[in-house]
Amino acid sequence: MKEAEYKKLVKNLIYHDELYYEKADPVISDYEYDLLLRQAAEFERLHPGKIDPNSPTNRIADPLDAGFQKKAHRTPMLSLSNTYSPEEIQEFIDRVEKLLSKKEILFHVELKMDGIAVSVRYVRGRLVCALTRGNGEWGDDITSNLKTLRSLPLSLKGEEIPEDFEARGEVYLPIQRFEELNQEREEKGLPQWANPRNAAAGSLKLLDSREVRARKLKVLFYGVGQFAGFKNQHEVCLSLQKMGLPVAEKGHTALCRNLQEILDFADTIQNKRAHLPFEIDGIVIKVDALEEHQSLGMTGKSPRGSVAYKFTPEQEKSVIRAIILQLGRTGIVTPVAELEPTLLSGSTITRATLHNQEEIARKDIRVGDTVLIEKGGDVIPKVVSVVKSARPPCATPWSMPDTCPFCNAPLFDSVGEVAVRCMNEACPQVSLQRLIFYVSKQGMDIPFLGEKVVQRLFEAELFRSFPDLYRLSKESLQRLPQFQEKSIANLLCSIEKAKQPPLYRFILALGIKYVGKQTARALAKTAERIEDFYTMQKEDFLAIEGVGEKVADSLLTFFSQESNRAEIAELASLGVVPLPPHGSNEQTGLFAKKSFVLTGSLEGYTREEAREVIESHGGTVKSSVSKKVDYLLAGKDPGSKWEKARKQGVTILSEEEFHQLLKQKGKS
Ligand code: IVH
Repeated sequence: MKEAEYKKLVKNLIYHDELYYEKADPVISDYEYDLLLRQAAEFERLHPGKIDPNSPTNRIADPLDAGFQKKAHRTPMLSLSNTYSPEEIQEFIDRVEKLLSKKEILFHVELKMDGIAVSVRYVRGRLVCALTRGNGEWGDDITSNLKTLRSLPLSLKGEEIPEDFEARGEVYLPIQRFEELNQEREEKGLPQWANPRNAAAGSLKLLDSREVRARKLKVLFYGVGQFAGFKNQHEVCLSLQKMGLPVAEKGHTALCRNLQEILDFADTIQNKRAHLPFEIDGIVIKVDALEEHQSLGMTGKSPRGSVAYKFTPEQEKSVIRAIILQLGRTGIVTPVAELEPTLLSGSTITRATLHNQEEIARKDIRVGDTVLIEKGGDVIPKVVSVVKSARPPCATPWSMPDTCPFCNAPLFDSVGEVAVRCMNEACPQVSLQRLIFYVSKQGMDIPFLGEKVVQRLFEAELFRSFPDLYRLSKESLQRLPQFQEKSIANLLCSIEKAKQPPLYRFILALGIKYVGKQTARALAKTAERIEDFYTMQKEDFLAIEGVGEKVADSLLTFFSQESNRAEIAELASLGVVPLPPHGSNEQTGLFAKKSFVLTGSLEGYTREEAREVIESHGGTVKSSVSKKVDYLLAGKDPGSKWEKARKQGVTILSEEEFHQLLKQKGKS
């Protein structure tokens, strides 16, 4: 390819980026786009001196650059205080008027994007650094990942580009993309994301920026790091746009002079909310004149000149098709409404919790009823009220069945609780829920074991007790039609990796009656090993913070039962050895006084996870290689750190060798 052709190709790619992202109207497929991109990359590989800095190939950064260094924000990234009612907005306006000793203040009102705040720095028009908000003072350097966003310009355009410029905005995942990704995750047996914001946050943390690119995140800018040179907020937005940065579209911002105008704007947006391609959780009201905004100063970590007005949760109508019972790991029975699929806050709702019999009676909820449902944040949707006028004549009041729908054992009212319980120790549903909890994030934290996968394994009788989990093998899993080679490898690896949780999570995972997270943490502080509890008396338990009579009795019963002790011993023989609480390991852990540097992409861990494992064994993780470093943990495609470590005589561990080390510890 000649240079002129290459230049044309780059222009063409930029044109397709614009169609894809700015106009949402691509004319070529992703595949065709990738072919063009590869041609450009090939030319660049052969002629590195002729690379066009705007070439979209620059977006596919070297995955090795993606280690997240902490960097200081040059201007802190603040947060916003919230208002929830017109009265509170009026109070904000009054306060601003009073402090500025002036009436008729102009406010720039914007959408409050529900994503992840980022700060992107351009020096002489070139993108040099992108940081997350972090704690406001320090953020993670996510430059390589952000460069993969096709709508983010690598160079600014226009004549008036400041020498050193920081744009601030929000990275988000469009709702449609969120649903596609969740679908893909479900098929792969990966845990679902609760909402697009979590998905965006998770995506930005990926180590391999090529994977980030595939997520198709977007970004929208609404501010600058330093106000220098700008008069007001609406001018800031215009300038950002002129420089080629994506900003809010027309109609998604407004200049308002008073409460009424702000509420009118909020109303218009609320009405559009369900049709927006991204999630918002309110609007942001900003004093438009930047000098005034600055002079108002801050309270805590929020500027006095801006405030968020949060929308109350969206509501939608649906129809109850049936009321079913869900059974939790402690035997508590919860009635759940099965609904006509309904779109609410960007996702399709098919179920809503009805809490308990009393709640159903209080709201008089019946099968066949049209109901208003609501979803707040990432909690399960709930039924707000019944539209009585739409009730079919045949609808009858609902009452709790007398027997468990899963094992037919009688259901009992729990003393002192509104809840109803299945007390059958052998109830299959309770067993299943105990296993689901055991592997969950709160318990042993095995990410490749979502609820559906546990259920499949349970039905295939491969996973009926905690120890069963560690007896799963490639051979046994291959017999199940739903398991592909890759998912088997992922599953087995994640089970292996999770064999040494902190002691408190192991205690929690065992599902001892009345032992929640706080109690588990308090218990773990008093022991080195789980077996230490076997010899404890009731008084010993009662001396532990937060442990009362009921909990002490339950602990005593649990730890004295032979079957429980046998199960714990069996788990230990399978390598499940919880780690004693932090602190003791610093001196005696497997990696005590040892320092690590990570490089390359690890198959079985994210960087954060690898760090957690090392630290939980008493080691430390450093960012750069020096003679003082003990180990370099090298994943696939290690970079310059590998060479440096070799030269400095640092021990290089492959992921496999690292595993082996951990395993040995498990056996000792
Ligand atoms: S201005 C003082 N404008 O909301 C903070 N923030 O709850 C300056 N956000 O961390 C932010 N949309 O991530 C601003 N139009 C908008 C926004 C917005 C979403 C986020 C931002 C901030 C958070 C505070």
